[in-house]
Amino acid sequence: MTNNVIIYLTRHGESEYNVLKKIGGNSNLTENGIHYSKVLYEYFQNDKIDVYTSSLNRTIQTSQYFPEKRSYPQLNEIKSGICDGKTYDEIKSLYPEEYEKRKINKYCYRYPKGESYEDIKNRVTPFMEEMLGSSENRLIICHQAILRVLYSFFIKIPEQELPYLEIPLHTLFKFTIIKEANEIKNVELDKHYFSI
Ligand code: F6P
Repeated sequence: MTNNVIIYLTRHGESEYNVLKKIGGNSNLTENGIHYSKVLYEYFQNDKIDVYTSSLNRTIQTSQYFPEKRSYPQLNEIKSGICDGKTYDEIKSLYPEEYEKRKINKYCYRYPKGESYEDIKNRVTPFMEEMLGSSENRLIICHQAILRVLYSFFIKIPEQELPYLEIPLHTLFKFTIIKEANEIKNVELDKHYFSI
């Protein structure tokens, strides 16, 4: 028997930190980000969809028009430790060695007092195993690094390429999971770009 499950992934709407080009933090959405939260809700208005967010303001605010949603700290953005709240230029001038180390192996590089891509893959694996076993359609509103890792559960990507996947803001990734007798047979990907 064939039954398809759809999992949608998106980043939160534009945040104050996105505009300032700062990483990490827990900033709020900008006007553009709030607009995205509206158009995202309108897109799903007639569908039955379970909505999941991280526990950070920007994803919760992006889900604000959905009456029901659940927040999971497992979906929080990669922890950037001593670099949190800084721009990439500030990191380069304050911690040049860290900046270079990350360029050499972005997948394994762990921010001091923070995480690596490898760490977040381990962090989200139990959550994703539960998602993949489910028969409900779901929308997951999360963050750039987390979305790259979640993407790799559906479409195989070499580890070294994963941290460079292009994941723009205000874009919805639709993964249709084709199952046969509870086995995943195929995954199809469609992208929808919202003009904000
Ligand atoms: O810039 C937005 C952001 O989500 C940061 O909070 C995070 O540190 C970064 O993207 C992850 O992307 P990269 O691994 O390419 O630095």
